Amino acid sequence: MTGSSTVLPFKIEKNPNPLSAEKRADLLKNPGFGRVFTDHMAVVQWSAGKGWHDAVITARKPFEIDPASAVLHYGQEIFEGLKAYRAHDGRILLFRPEANAERFHNSAIRLAMPPLDKDVFLAAINELVKIDRNWIPETPDSSLYLRPFMFANEAFLGVHPANEYIFSVIASPVGSYFKSGSTKPVSVWLDTEFSRAGPGGTGEAKCGGNYASSLLAQINAEKNGCDQVLFLDVVERKWIEELGGMNVCFVMDDNRLVTPKLDGTILHGVTRKSILQLAKDNGMKVEERSYSFDDLKKDAKSGHLKEVFACGTAAVITPIGVFKYEGGETVIGNGNGGEITQNLREQLIHIQKGEAKDPYGWVKTVKID
Ligand code: COI
Repeated sequence: MTGSSTVLPFKIEKNPNPLSAEKRADLLKNPGFGRVFTDHMAVVQWSAGKGWHDAVITARKPFEIDPASAVLHYGQEIFEGLKAYRAHDGRILLFRPEANAERFHNSAIRLAMPPLDKDVFLAAINELVKIDRNWIPETPDSSLYLRPFMFANEAFLGVHPANEYIFSVIASPVGSYFKSGSTKPVSVWLDTEFSRAGPGGTGEAKCGGNYASSLLAQINAEKNGCDQVLFLDVVERKWIEELGGMNVCFVMDDNRLVTPKLDGTILHGVTRKSILQLAKDNGMKVEERSYSFDDLKKDAKSGHLKEVFACGTAAVITPIGVFKYEGGETVIGNGNGGEITQNLREQLIHIQKGEAKDPYGWVKTVKID
């Protein structure tokens, strides 16, 4: 990993009032997901006249934005999610940060925002992790979740790409995304009332709007006792797309791994991509293709579909035990997850934590000096 960007150096302003080591240790014992934050943040400004400028690592604090700021009205916002891990040998590791930089770049283009130089994206992450490295939790299943994001900050009510933006990175020590942990199977509600994304829309961009539009369906899922929601395509309303906050994979009884193809409406998951590679390396036949919910029901009943799992940076690989829908439910296997899901999960985590061979060079070491 590069340290300070060669294109834009980061000024370092240390937080004069960091949390005490005792309070930090207390928070790190059981951080949950996304509620605890570190002492610093990265901030970079963009304006039409100056381009990207004023890169700084500073004390974490609220932004002061104008009530007419474009993001508050038209949702011009994108984000990323990646994790830093502390390896046994003391190194701090990031998993495929270039893939996040690349996706962030693509999301910016889709949302008519100024793409950020990948070098600046990576340097912001490196510098933030470096200064807040004491916040990396070391209990199993925990990590430092990094949230790069960019929003339109021009005070202007016309519907037009803004002329001012802020890129920022915050960091949050996290445990499992799901309250039940990440190895216990979760339940998923098939929503037929709402859609997540349509052809030509923003489905494959990582923008806040996609998640905002998933929330009513997520409420439906929770009302029906489920952890997550599953969306179908908007055209035929039969093909499986993705969950509210993660991709989905299906393990068949003939050594095949099936996952919906990336057709413009599905997020290009970094975890998804990595799992497909690991599955191939394990000798599985990987199929990125359309898979209908009717086929899922039929295949689960016949036993052809053995395991299903959710995958994403936050969720890692979490087994799905049951799908519920209006008028019924479909249990996957015995409802307790399965061996292939567990193996892929362990393989991935071992690579992420520097405990296994990394043949593709996915893991990057944070530069401290
Ligand atoms: C991630 O997995 O990093 C995401 O951005 C999804 C969100 C559900 C936390």
